[in-house]
Amino acid sequence: MDFADSAQELFDKGYAAVKGAVAGQAVERQPFMVGFARLCNDGWLQGWHERNGGNLTYRMADEEVRACKPFFLDEPGRWTAMGVQADNLRGAFFVATGAGRYMRNVQLSPSRNVGIVEINDAGDAWRLVWGLEGGGRPTSEFPSHFMAHSVRMKATGGASRVLYHAHPDNVIALTKVVPLDARSITRALWKATTECVMALPMGVGVVPCMVPGGPEIARETSELMKAHDAVVWAQHGVFCSGPDFDSAFGLMHSIEKAAHIHGLALMMNGGSGDFANTISDDDLRAIAQSLGLSINEAFLD
Ligand code: 13P
Ligand code: ZN
Repeated sequence: MDFADSAQELFDKGYAAVKGAVAGQAVERQPFMVGFARLCNDGWLQGWHERNGGNLTYRMADEEVRACKPFFLDEPGRWTAMGVQADNLRGAFFVATGAGRYMRNVQLSPSRNVGIVEINDAGDAWRLVWGLEGGGRPTSEFPSHFMAHSVRMKATGGASRVLYHAHPDNVIALTKVVPLDARSITRALWKATTECVMALPMGVGVVPCMVPGGPEIARETSELMKAHDAVVWAQHGVFCSGPDFDSAFGLMHSIEKAAHIHGLALMMNGGSGDFANTISDDDLRAIAQSLGLSINEAFLD
């Protein structure tokens, strides 16, 4: 190789590295990515994300896709089938935490720990168009996120954009002591604090203990998300949806706080759920009514 060739090779390598860094930073600075990383860090600070526990996805708006497209990979990754399909997500773009990536690391380097994936025209496969530097794929729970996005998008007329999965201690503990049905779990949460029903007027859905990741838990969860914006996964954690990062995080926080208070009250009461004072069903109705919220009557006496 003569001098000109090796100089050219050096230039090409340098150019590619600078181009990659610019593309990484340009997308990392977008407001949606700043909000995405902030939620990951907030969840970590709450103690909900041991190891690689938990994951987050965001359905990008068209203008956000347009702003980021110049920085997408010249050669996107290969299409990967998901084992699930959704017509209303054909051609959508999602930001997703990577499988095995740690939520605590997202804010340090979104481009290493987060990817943007494009969904194909058939609505059944994804390919990487940005991020997950060093190799990787979206969270192992991507089928659950994808199907839940489809259902929540339909249920909210397109408003729902965020799906958040976390491992909050007190909700997981709650699934060990309260009968595993949506009504019982919801009533324990609602009656813990007057604020819970405001955040959660439709109550939670409950999925029994299942193998994490893959299409089975995705189908079960998305079925329940037709009527609920949050689903508890027994012995595992919570799946929350919302129109924005604040709403999804706030919902997770409200559910976990209510579970914590229920657990504290049980402990103060010697383990008995027969409390001296509680919130009555009529109180719950009145709270919901005061805010103009329709409460899930099926969960009330
Ligand atoms: P991922 O690392 O694949 O996102 O898995 C974490 C998790 O919480 C699985 O339920
Ligand atoms: Zn999990």
